[in-house]
Amino acid sequence: MDPIGLAVVLASVRPGRVGPVVADWFLRTVSERNDVVATKIDLMDAALPADLSPSPAGEAFAAAIGAVDAVVVVTPEYNHGYPGALKTALDTVKYQWRGKPIGFVSYGGLGGGLRATEQLRQVAAELHMVAVRDSVGFHRVRTAFDENGHTDDSAAVDAAGRMLSQLHWWATASKVQSRAFPYPG
Ligand SMILES: Cc1cc2nc3c(=O)[nH]c(=O)nc-3n(C[C@H](O)[C@H](O)[C@H](O)COP(=O)(O)O)c2cc1C
Repeated sequence: MDPIGLAVVLASVRPGRVGPVVADWFLRTVSERNDVVATKIDLMDAALPADLSPSPAGEAFAAAIGAVDAVVVVTPEYNHGYPGALKTALDTVKYQWRGKPIGFVSYGGLGGGLRATEQLRQVAAELHMVAVRDSVGFHRVRTAFDENGHTDDSAAVDAAGRMLSQLHWWATASKVQSRAFPYPG
């Protein structure tokens, strides 16, 4: 089985954020597999212009998305939505999203970020992406991980495995089909 390239996009950019704990757990989970090679993209470092004006930062982000076969967004839930920095990132790139599968690792308070994930499914469709069925959601995220970044949440571990297998299936199918003829756009 050929490995796929996966961008793991960390959507939280707030000082004191929990996001890196969740993203690093997910990256460790990916590293235990031999069919997915992940690259972390931290939107705090990407520093994308909120007005969507052309910029070297935007070009670099688009190139990073263009270089992978699939995407996972690691996102908190803010006021029943997803962070503005993530919307900026989604709107910064156009063609590089197309024909690729996307999965979601969300977290938050009681809702586990599931409302953010469901909103992102709508946006993914507009970007010509395939949002895979399984997603990961951590409720009460501050208590979900120990000091080593480990979680006992077996449902999350199971969902991550299913989501990664679905991403691999869709990314491989998309690569094979794109060799026959390009995505119609
Ligand atoms: C502005 C803001 C709004 C929030 N709204 C929600 C919410 O609607 N639902 C929820 O479950 N948690 C909500 N929370 C809790 C966050 O999900 C939680 O603080 C999480 O740690 C935020 O991720 P971060 O630390 O990576 O920024 C909110 C937090 C902030 C800062």
